[in-house]
Amino acid sequence: MPYDVPNIMQTPSTPVADNRPAGSHCANPAQLSPQLGELFPADVIAIELLTEAPRSVLTELELNSISHCANKRIDDFTRGRACARLGLEHLGIPAFSLLSGEKREPVWPPGIVGSITHTTGFAAAVVARSADVKGLGIDCEVIESVGQDLWERICTPRELAQLSPLPEARAQERAALIFAAKEAFYKCQFPLTREWVGFEDVSIELQDNGKLRIVPEVSLPVPAEWVGALRSCYQSRGRWVITGVTALNSFRL
Ligand SMILES: CC(C)(COP(=O)(O)OP(=O)(O)OC[C@H]1O[C@@H](n2cnc3c(N)ncnc32)[C@H](O)[C@@H]1OP(=O)(O)O)[C@@H](O)C(=O)NCCC(=O)NCCS
Repeated sequence: MPYDVPNIMQTPSTPVADNRPAGSHCANPAQLSPQLGELFPADVIAIELLTEAPRSVLTELELNSISHCANKRIDDFTRGRACARLGLEHLGIPAFSLLSGEKREPVWPPGIVGSITHTTGFAAAVVARSADVKGLGIDCEVIESVGQDLWERICTPRELAQLSPLPEARAQERAALIFAAKEAFYKCQFPLTREWVGFEDVSIELQDNGKLRIVPEVSLPVPAEWVGALRSCYQSRGRWVITGVTALNSFRL
């Protein structure tokens, strides 16, 4: 079934020049992460950060775009941008000002796709060339922060039924994985469709091999076949769960 991607998504975003004074670059504490890379195909560059990042990793345009926000928001933004910056450098794109679109989506350079996540103690970004990969989504959640009071908002009735017989700790980890998988899916599909998808609109099926399936419960802005062809994986790492969703170029929208 042909699917019309809205024109706005077919127009490459205009690159934004870096207007930071030359020589002001600082050490970026983010690092390439082979472990995170296991969630994605080999063409995807995965970067993570377990510490804070100095604001000097931001370009002046990035700093201006966020300077009206509270300190915590600026710190989170900076950690995510530190990861994205290193990823873009690995693709040969240094000092690009990665600004946010009107729905908070990062506006990647033309020909690049990517995704960012940041939570307590962990931030990450994944980037790839759009010639290799059509779309990316990554999400990380602190397991203990996805409390039972959230489950009804995050989960479909089918998912809730799977949680209820589990011991408390396993149920909480599973709920966090469901949440993270849905958010990674959302981040992967949004730049392609610019459409909202709700938590009740898909169910997540976790498999024992670290892979997961995203199952549409309603008609989505993307065809069910496209959702079925996504490469979706998860990891549990101590207090965090991390999910990665990749739209491969082999299945075209
Ligand atoms: C957009 C959303 C997924 C972000 O997730 P989050 O857990 O709040 O935050 P994370 O730290 O993991 O990710 C934040 C990053 O996501 C990225 N992001 C935000 N909105 C985005 C969008 N519309 N599309 C793609 N990426 C987006 C940004 O890079 C953001 O960081 P930044 O603002 O510092 O640049 C979430 O806020 C949201 O709106 N969820 C509701 C929709 C949804 O998830 N539905 C489930 C459908 S199955």
